[in-house]
Amino acid sequence: MENLKLSRKLLLISKLVKGKYVADVGCDHAKLLIYLALTKNIKLYACDVRKKPLEKAKENAKKYGVYEKIDFILSDGLKNVPSSVDCVVVAGMGGKLIERIIFEQSFVRNENIRLILQPQSFLYDVRINLYRNGFYIEKELHIIEHRKCYDILVVYFKGEAKEINLKKAVLGEDIKTKNFYDDGFLDIIIKKEGKILNGLKTAKEKNLNKIKKQEKILKIFREFKEKS
Ligand SMILES: C[S@@+](CC[C@H](N)C(=O)[O-])C[C@H]1O[C@@H](n2cnc3c(N)ncnc32)[C@H](O)[C@@H]1O
Repeated sequence: MENLKLSRKLLLISKLVKGKYVADVGCDHAKLLIYLALTKNIKLYACDVRKKPLEKAKENAKKYGVYEKIDFILSDGLKNVPSSVDCVVVAGMGGKLIERIIFEQSFVRNENIRLILQPQSFLYDVRINLYRNGFYIEKELHIIEHRKCYDILVVYFKGEAKEINLKKAVLGEDIKTKNFYDDGFLDIIIKKEGKILNGLKTAKEKNLNKIKKQEKILKIFREFKEKS
């Protein structure tokens, strides 16, 4: 059998998976679940909103001899996912879509369900809105793969809504997360945030509030990098 090639991102996510009933929402090729099926004895649900990726996922599962170990579910977000799951992965989607998927299904408002989220965008808003909706972030990983940055959050429902300030939205609540940054990650982010600031400053119609906020974001990262 051909060796399964898992990206570093998916390998790290697989290590964060805990539980007996695991759903991967937006599974695409289902490599994560195939890897879990090959290495763990747990119930797995491969979910995608589109038929094509789900067909590919089935094909891949057959190729690696784990088709019987995975349920394949056509589902927009968590709509058709059994509420008995105790671990849900939502990776490789925009932050706004991930927020919608998590906040629209009440069954994930359960302290026993572990959520592993990897938003591709709007990370600061995702943090703010998780806390605002009573969730908390237990752990974060910030990794580089093929010169791209990925943020992986392990999240639980706590039931206590709270507001976090810009610093916590930008860096995450737990200052210890600096241990979870790959070497060079902060440099890439500082460069990216700097470019955004330059764009705002050179725009024809300047938005002073946005510029001020972006300056603060850059300062937060620079100070954090100096300290770490
Ligand atoms: C870029 S792939 C990510 C694959 C994998 N999770 C990863 O991180 O490598 C995004 C997948 O999410 C699926 N998707 C997009 N919107 C979705 C939704 N509302 N519910 C379920 N799946 C969705 C897409 O069809 C696609 O297969």
